[in-house]
Formats: sequence, structure tokens, C-alpha cells
Amino acid sequence: MKIFENADLLSHNSLRFQSNVDELVVVEDYEDLAAAFDCADPVHILGEGTNSVLMPHVRGRVVEMAIRGIRVIHDSNQGVLVHVAASENWHEVVRYTLGQGIHGLENLSLIPGSVGAAPYQNIGAYGVELHEVLESVQVYDRNQGDIKRLNNTDCQFGYRDSIFRRDSENRYVILNITLRLGRHKLRTGYKDLERSLKGVSDSSLTPVQVSEAVIRLRRRKLPSLKRFPNVGSVFKNPVISRQHAMDLNREIGVPMYSTPTGTKVSAAYLIDCSGWKGKQISGILIWPRQPLVFVNQSSKATGIEFLQVANQVREDIYSKFQVPLEMEPVVLGDVN
Ligand code: EPU
Repeated sequence: MKIFENADLLSHNSLRFQSNVDELVVVEDYEDLAAAFDCADPVHILGEGTNSVLMPHVRGRVVEMAIRGIRVIHDSNQGVLVHVAASENWHEVVRYTLGQGIHGLENLSLIPGSVGAAPYQNIGAYGVELHEVLESVQVYDRNQGDIKRLNNTDCQFGYRDSIFRRDSENRYVILNITLRLGRHKLRTGYKDLERSLKGVSDSSLTPVQVSEAVIRLRRRKLPSLKRFPNVGSVFKNPVISRQHAMDLNREIGVPMYSTPTGTKVSAAYLIDCSGWKGKQISGILIWPRQPLVFVNQSSKATGIEFLQVANQVREDIYSKFQVPLEMEPVVLGDVN
């Protein structure tokens, strides 16, 4: 394991904010887990930093997992089990499986970040969520000091939510995941995706074509991470009462979808209606083509300004529509 004191995290976060942590520990072997997580100060786990908003100072230790590997462990008519280490890049896994003729991940193409972050926030896009293809997660249990396997139900997945995300103490460290792929029907019902595939007949449609369509849609709507530093959606789509959603739908036409816990409404639409699209405040730009995404346009902006802008938007949406917005990315470090 490698230890870096007072480490610079600029290249560890996709918003490209200046940030320093007391200690950065890079774990390259399961043997190092106990030592890496045995620390009296707060310990945070960072993947590729594509869903974390870093404050200028992060107290304690940041652990970066650097264990790789991807392999097919079982292939039968029940499906294909694929085992992937947490530090692999998510989109590379999508490409690898599609390249092997294994389908199931096509709708989740081009989502930034590492495999470890995927169950953490139950990544989802274009009508599919990770939990639908996830068999199990192997974790290091910091409380017990051992390695165990959590099955799909143990992970308590919800919309952009899981047991990992709810646990502020970081009890479980995600080491690798097992996916069950290759037996799902193609899912093209998401409106934008359906529109983009118009003209291709259902019978000839391949998983690779679905993946290509998703990539085209994402490139059109979402800013490239390299050129426009961002962390994807800043807020979750809020789930509110059916009555409240219907009232808003009638008043302003907000898109709404039924879910088991209430009615989900489009946060992008509410932000768009409130005139925030394309606004730039303290170096933070609200992306004109998808106002759920904020881009860092300045070398001086920090996580503090990002949170200030997020709060302004949140307060405005609450005062206009009485809808509370919840942040989607994780905030790391001292806020004050
Ligand atoms: N919309 C607007 N104005 C805009 C853009 C969108 O009103 O400028 C409204 C439209 O009504 C549109 C609707 O928002 O039909 C949906 O837009 P989109 O398909 O982009 O979906 P989203 O709900 O805004 C979610 C995820 C995205 C994911 C897309 C596609 C969340 C928080 N975000 O966005 O995920 O790519 O669906 O499935 O659930 C991410 O999590 O970082 C992320 C980018």
C-alpha cells in the first residue's frame, strides 16, 4: 500500500476542484485492507471521483482502491456471471461485455466512474438500474475485519440509493461485484431512446446498437468530463405525493412517473422552468442542455461555491414549487 501525506486531490475529482487530504492511501492488495482502514480519523473511499464534490480540505484519510480484474465465471442458459473488481472503469466493463457478445449493460453505457461506485449509488440510465443485473457484492466489513458477500437483497437498493450510500460510517468497502447478464430482453422503452432508435426494426436490433444510441444521447445532452468538469446530475429526481405531482403537472406540465414510493417528477424540468438554465455563478455553470448538471468553469471555484449554487437552486425550487431537492453526489471534506 502507498501512503501520501497532505495529498493533492485535484486529479482525483472530475469537477477539478482544488482539494487536499491529510492522508491518501492507495490499496493494491486485499492484504492491506486492515491497515488501510485502521485509522482513528475519518476514512473516506474515493473511486474515480466522478460523483464526489470535494471541499478544499478533507480531514483524515482517503482510501483509493487500485485492485483490478474482470472475468466471466459462469456461462449457462441461466445467464452469464461476470466478476469485476471495484477499480475497473464502468464503461470499460460495458464495452468488454458487449465485445464478448454478452448483453445487459447496454443502457448503462458511458456512465462515468468506477465499478465500486456503481452499487454505491445504484447507477441508472435510460430505463435500467444496476440492481436489475447485480448478483452480489463482495465487501470488506470494517466492523468485523473480514471479507463477506452481500447478495442483491442485502444491498437494499433504491433509486440512486443502497446500504452503502446510507452508511455514513463506511462500514462496507466494496471490493468487487458479480453481474448476471445475457438473458435480459433489450429495453428501449425510455422515450428519448425509443425516439433515437426509430426506424430500426425490433427483430434486427442488437445490444451494440442500443449502446451506440445511448452514447449518442448522452453525448448530445451531457457535457464531456474532460472539457467541462462536472459530476453528472447534481440532484435526484424528487419523489413527491401523487396529488402534488398532478397539481404541478397541471400547472407547469412537469413530467411525472409512478414509483412504488410515490410519484417522481423531473428535477431538470423544475430547474429549467425556473430560468436557471445556462446561468453562471461564481464559476459554476448550469449546463444549458441538461440543467441538472453543473460545470466548473473556473480554476478558482471550489466545492464551497458549488454547494452555494446548489443551495440557491434548491431554495428557489422549494419556494416556487414546495418540492425539496436532494443532492445526488457525495460531499467530501470540511464544509465550513
Ligand atoms: N428536461 C428539461 N429540460 C432540460 C433537460 C431535461 O425539462 O433541459 C426534462 C425533460 O422533460 C426530459 C426530462 O427532463 O424529458 C428527462 O431528461 P433526461 O432524460 O436527461 O433524464 P433526467 O431524469 O433529467 C436521469 C438521470 C441521468 C440519466 C438520465 C437518462 C437522475 C438524477 N439523473 O436524468 O443520470 O443519464 O436520466 O436516463 O436520475 C446522473 O445520475 O448523473 C445522470 C446523468
